[in-house]
Amino acid sequence: MAAQKVPKTGILLVAFGTSVPDAQRAYRQIEQRVQAAFPDTGIRWGFTSSMVRHKLEQSGQTAYSPASALARMADEGFTHVAVQSLHVIPGYEYHDLLRVVHSMQGLPKGIQRITVGDPLLTSHDDMASVTGILANWVQTFRHPGDAVVFMGHGTNHPSNIYYPGLQFYLGERDPMLFVGTVEGYPSVDDVVKKLKTRLPQKVWLVPLMTVAGDHALNDMTGNNGQSWEEIMQREQIPAQAVLKGLGQIDEITDVWIAHLRTALGQLADNR
Ligand code: CO
Repeated sequence: MAAQKVPKTGILLVAFGTSVPDAQRAYRQIEQRVQAAFPDTGIRWGFTSSMVRHKLEQSGQTAYSPASALARMADEGFTHVAVQSLHVIPGYEYHDLLRVVHSMQGLPKGIQRITVGDPLLTSHDDMASVTGILANWVQTFRHPGDAVVFMGHGTNHPSNIYYPGLQFYLGERDPMLFVGTVEGYPSVDDVVKKLKTRLPQKVWLVPLMTVAGDHALNDMTGNNGQSWEEIMQREQIPAQAVLKGLGQIDEITDVWIAHLRTALGQLADNR
């Protein structure tokens, strides 16, 4: 009979990745908070974007895919790993991650059990918590009469429905909170149409993304004639960007941490 490995539990944080150095700060802030919540558990990282990993490697940084990160964790002797998806919605990146995890669980001399924590927005409770957190957080910079537009990524995956979904929850709470997406529905044009009927004194643009990376710098702000800031200014709507990723709002990270706690609990289910 093969000798039983000594159980060793680890955490794998998985994000899309970013090559923008300032944006990487959000990942460090998330890691510190996760480590504080689980001080005795080793944390590793995996990045789902191969383009980002390639860019990071070219600049001399090491970045592993979720599959490579899990293989390395197996070599390090981890027997149980809770993977936390730091994605915002359960789209392609998340579902690809599930497939990788399922294929890497229970391999000979590998990790015996791997569980995966939900992305930020998954259940009704997530939508309600995130709505409350964002509605409170915007009060730290907006004035009465200002609108806030959250810029999500958007996707052609069915889970794009989470963006109009969040718009519903936010709107119930505060009619001056809006959700738009770069690549899905609602679009920036949809948001501009609504803003023109509400006549806010000012519009704050905030990334609904884990980090304020490439999309925040190029699609939200930036001087390319196409940024949301410029589109709104052309419509006489004064807009200002807040370059902070969701990972820089500790209460948001706590939602991911709650999902991770569930995933860690599921590891223990079947030891
Ligand atoms: Co993108």
